[in-house]
Amino acid sequence: MRVSSLVLCALCAVDASRQRPFSGSRLAKPAQPLTPARTSRPEGPAPTSAGVQAVDAPLLARLVGTQMLVGYTIFTGGIGAQVLHAHAHLDSASVWLIGGLGALPLLALGRVIETSPSSALVEINASTNRLALRMFGPRAQPILALSLSAALGALVGVVEETLFRGQLLPSLSAYATTHGLEHDEAKLAAVAASALVFALAHINVLGGLKQIASKETGVTVALQLATGAWFGALSIATGQLGTAIVAHGVYDACTLYGTHLRVTRQVSRATARGLAALRLPALAGWLAARGASWTENASRLFFLLDGDGDGEVSAAEARSGGITFGLCDETIAALEARAANGGLQLGAFFDAVADLSNAGAKARAHACGGE
Ligand SMILES: *[C@@H]1O[C@H](CO)[C@@H](O)[C@H](O)[C@H]1NC(C)=O
Ligand SMILES: *[C@@H]1O[C@H](CO)[C@@H](O)[C@H](O)[C@H]1NC(C)=O
Repeated sequence: MRVSSLVLCALCAVDASRQRPFSGSRLAKPAQPLTPARTSRPEGPAPTSAGVQAVDAPLLARLVGTQMLVGYTIFTGGIGAQVLHAHAHLDSASVWLIGGLGALPLLALGRVIETSPSSALVEINASTNRLALRMFGPRAQPILALSLSAALGALVGVVEETLFRGQLLPSLSAYATTHGLEHDEAKLAAVAASALVFALAHINVLGGLKQIASKETGVTVALQLATGAWFGALSIATGQLGTAIVAHGVYDACTLYGTHLRVTRQVSRATARGLAALRLPALAGWLAARGASWTENASRLFFLLDGDGDGEVSAAEARSGGITFGLCDETIAALEARAANGGLQLGAFFDAVADLSNAGAKARAHACGGE
């Protein structure tokens, strides 16, 4: 999860299964990096008659369902609805303006995470990518993705902010006041405590102990703490829950939509460049030795992993892109090791993939989790 997904709380549940958006590039056959998941995953998005992927409906239903459950008092006219009505002021233009501006620092933080080579941040980058890929598929669907991202952002913003900043924060603040804290101290303590609950609520319990104890979870919790405190501070400083709702919603929507655009652009760029690369003299030897299909697949994988398009695959890119596009762990680790002392250029990348293919042929039976 990038900072965002945090916010798209329900993602945690999604991420648990660590489903690969693409299958087929397992160690045993790394030369098939681009078999779309829907061929092997019955749950995947159903292709329409035009061959255009729509949306992963079960995933969407799970995200929406979680939010409806968490925020049911909003939708049944209970306490959540009362808090929203009394404190959100979503009919005020200034609430929208301040909330929109309030999303900017978090979006900037998201950009930092996206470009950072630090290993824990790379995992977060990749899991946001994976979510966008699973949700909307590998081809760009700007209008559908924008509408659904906006709707999901709105839902998550309203539900999570009403719960954490609208209900929990004031209760904690009142509790602290009755236990001797000054007014301002009580508010500060309540912002911190509600952010802590918010962050802990985003831990992916479905992933099991190993996942909970992972570095990625630690970073996710730290990021959630920061975003939760930021939303809390916004709502306290403006005296309106609406600013936190708008900031949260805008942030989630922009992150999901932006990730969809980036990932699908990368897929189409890799397809085009992978094909064009076949005319490179450097690949003539591989074409002769391994055939057009293998060479094209390998060069497409190269451009898929070269996230920043600088002509080489760094260790961070091998990990981020490997997770994003569903390479198996052994393949990712092997590419990372080869790139450890500097990025792999096309030739070195082909050597690495060829070695993996050869090793994979021997280890076919037990490679990659024995699917
Ligand atoms: C290349 O990838 C395609 C799927 O995109 C697969 O059908 C084909 O078998 C692969 N070629 C080789 C040589 O593995
Ligand atoms: C993070 O993901 C983006 C795709 O959204 C990719 O272009 C970028 O290279 C990734 N960052 C790293 C450090 O791998």
